[in-house]
Amino acid sequence: MDIAHYKEDFLDYLKTEIIKKDPVNLYLPIEYILELGGKRLRPILVLLSCDLFNEDYIKAMEAALCVEMFHNFTLIHDDIMDKADIRRGKETVHKKWNVNTGILSGDALLILAYQRLEYYEGEKYKNLMSLFNKMAMEVCEGQQLDVDFEELVEVPLDTYIKMISYKTAVLVGASLKMGALIAGASLEDQQKIYDFGLNLGIAFQLQDDYLDTFGNKDFGKKIGGDILEGKKTFLYIKALELANDKDRFKLLELYGNEQNEGSKITEVKKIFLKIGLDALLTEQIEHYTLISFQDIEGLSIENSKKLVLKNFGLGLMNRKT
Ligand code: IPE
Ligand code: IPE
Ligand code: MG
Ligand code: MG
Ligand code: MG
Repeated sequence: MDIAHYKEDFLDYLKTEIIKKDPVNLYLPIEYILELGGKRLRPILVLLSCDLFNEDYIKAMEAALCVEMFHNFTLIHDDIMDKADIRRGKETVHKKWNVNTGILSGDALLILAYQRLEYYEGEKYKNLMSLFNKMAMEVCEGQQLDVDFEELVEVPLDTYIKMISYKTAVLVGASLKMGALIAGASLEDQQKIYDFGLNLGIAFQLQDDYLDTFGNKDFGKKIGGDILEGKKTFLYIKALELANDKDRFKLLELYGNEQNEGSKITEVKKIFLKIGLDALLTEQIEHYTLISFQDIEGLSIENSKKLVLKNFGLGLMNRKT
């Protein structure tokens, strides 16, 4: 159960499945984003989960490709919505081409993702489709909430957690559940591994928010991008709650006005650090990771396999990209 193995096998398969045909302006951006790299977290989880439940993980390869394609579709559209110019250290699709190209190649990539599930038959196909459709609608809901929150001054913390559960964590949970479903795991195990993914996914998005502000060049995205877009992250929400009156006023002013990008990021970061929000967010990331470990306990798999899941979760916590 070597994680690197799943990734290698996935990348080998991905290479053979890249479509090179006309119109190039539809297919080239898809090839570009899929070959841009990334951690391949979601396909790895599909394959790992299938393996955990004692099925040949190659049988889950189409589902693995499905979730990675879906993920990359969301990224193309997300970068348009977030006005992001770089991803994985390279130009985003809409920046390299244009917004219309991003919209349509994103749509096409979503369809290609669905198509991958046609490989499965009967009850499995039906269940995979239901799982996928429910998850995909929730991601849309999460993305809409994320955008809606840009216009709000205050967002309650539990509403923010709901938003990140939808935009990010449900796909992590669904990836694990797909692998389990393909392996023929019990409904109870499917639910438990989904719950594990959900909590791990919340920790994962919290960390994405952390790295967006406190990360370095390795992150591959513009540091401070969330601040510039007025994203209501854990950092912003907690800063409003914990800052003194003067800093709270300053933060609201910084978020409320168009101003020099560099100084806006620096000033906001200074307030976050002054209150110790970097440490508080790190604690939250650990908290959700530990909650996710509770879900592992009830799984009907060997202890050595439970350890593989835990180590995977711990590994994610130390990521810089
Ligand atoms: C980015 O996902 C979008 C989020 C949900 C935070 P990843 O951090 O998994 O991106 P890649 O695929 O590794 O680039
Ligand atoms: C990720 O949210 C959610 C989806 C892409 C569905 P972000 O907007 O934080 O993702 P990044 O940071 O751009 O990768
Ligand atoms: Mg984004
Ligand atoms: Mg976004
Ligand atoms: Mg982000």
